[in-house]
Amino acid sequence: MDSVSALLDSIADVGRDAFRGGYSRGVYTGAELTLREWFAEEARRRGLAVETDRNGILWGWWDAGEGGRAGALVTGSHLDSVPGGGAYDGPLGVTSALAAVDLLRARGVRPNRSLAVAVFPEEEGSRFGVSCLGSRLLTGAIDADAARNLTDADGVTFAEASRAAGIDPAHLGRDDGTLANIGDFVELHVEQGRGLIDLDSAVAVGSTVLGHGRWRLSVSGQGNHAGTTLMADRADPMIAAAQIVLAVRSVARAEDGARATVGRLQPVPGGTNVIASRVDLWLDIRHEDDAVTAALVERIHGKAQMAAAFEGCSVNLTAESRSGTVSFDPALQRTLQNSLKGAPLLPTGAGHDAAVLSGLVPAAMLYVRNPTGVSHSPEEFVERDDADAGAAALADVLEDLL
Ligand code: GLV
Ligand code: MN
Ligand code: MN
Repeated sequence: MDSVSALLDSIADVGRDAFRGGYSRGVYTGAELTLREWFAEEARRRGLAVETDRNGILWGWWDAGEGGRAGALVTGSHLDSVPGGGAYDGPLGVTSALAAVDLLRARGVRPNRSLAVAVFPEEEGSRFGVSCLGSRLLTGAIDADAARNLTDADGVTFAEASRAAGIDPAHLGRDDGTLANIGDFVELHVEQGRGLIDLDSAVAVGSTVLGHGRWRLSVSGQGNHAGTTLMADRADPMIAAAQIVLAVRSVARAEDGARATVGRLQPVPGGTNVIASRVDLWLDIRHEDDAVTAALVERIHGKAQMAAAFEGCSVNLTAESRSGTVSFDPALQRTLQNSLKGAPLLPTGAGHDAAVLSGLVPAAMLYVRNPTGVSHSPEEFVERDDADAGAAALADVLEDLL
C-alpha cells in the first residue's frame, strides 16, 4: 500500500522544467507518455485491468458486481500540466485514486459494482489550446474533426500527436459505450486558491465550476526594421497588443465577479531588432453568467479594434473554447457531504473534466487544501497529512457509493 506522497515522489523527476521551474508535462510529450506508462504499471500492480479508449483516456478497471462495467463508479483526474505547473494539479487526483483503491482493498471492501480509475488527456489544453479535450471528445462537446485539426506551437496536429501516442485519430469522438460505463464520476483535485485555507479544512466537496472560455486576438501590422523605420512610420502590432492587455484588465475590473487574463502573447516573427508583423494574444475569461462573458468579449474586441486602428493595424478575434458554469449533481454532493461528516462545500474558478462530464453523468469533486493558495505555478503545494486525508476521504466516498 502506497501513500499519496510516496506515489507523487515516484514521479517527482518526470517532466521537470529547468527553465520555467515546476513541471511541463504537455499531453503526449515524452513526460506525459512516461506518466501514462507509470499509471498503467501502478494500476496493473493493483490488479486493475488497463485499457486506453478511443479518445486516449486511460482506464484501470476493478471489475466487480453482476452488471459488468455499465454504470460503474469512476474516479481519476489528469497527468498533463500547464507549462511550468505544480506537482499536484492532476497527479494528486490520480495518485489519490490509486491510494484509495489500496485503502478499499485493505478495508476488505467487496464492490457491488465495478470501479475504475480514469486519466484524461489534455485537461489543461496547454498543448492544443482546448482544455478538457479528452472529456470533451468523450461527451461530444467538441467535434472530432475540429479536435483532429487542432495544432500545437510547432504545427503538429492533435491527430498526428494522437497517432504517435498509439491512438488512432480516426476513432476520436463521442463514445456512448464508454459513457454508459460511467455511473458516477468523482474527481479529487488540489484546491487552486485560498478556499480551504479560509475554511480551515483539509477537504471540501465541490459545488460549482465557474464558466470559462478562451479566445485568440491576432493583431496584424507591418513587419519592419527596428533601426530604419521612423517612429512615425510604424504600424506596430505590439503597441496595440500592449493597449489590449491593459484594456482586458480594465474591462474585467469593471464587471463584478469577472476574471480575465492574457497569459500568453506571441510576436511573429519575434526578433529583437524586428517590428512584429503580427502579435497573437490568448484571452482566458471567466464569469458565472455566459451572457456577461459574451458581453465582456465584445467589449474587449471593441477596444482591441480601436487600439489596432490607432496604430494602423487590424485585429481578428477567434473563439477557441467555451464552457458554461456548472453546478455539480446536488444528490451526489449531499452523499459526499454525508460520507465526510459535513465537509464544507466549495465553488471553484478552475475548470475540470468532472465539469464537462457533469452534463451527461452525475459528477462530483473533492478538493484538498493547498496552503500556498497558489496554483498553475511551482508554488502549488499539499501537506503530506492533507494528501493522506484526501485519499482517505476519497476512499470513504467510494466505499459508500460502491
Ligand atoms: C484548468 O486548470 C483551468 O481552469 O484552466
Ligand atoms: Mn490546471
Ligand atoms: Mn487540473
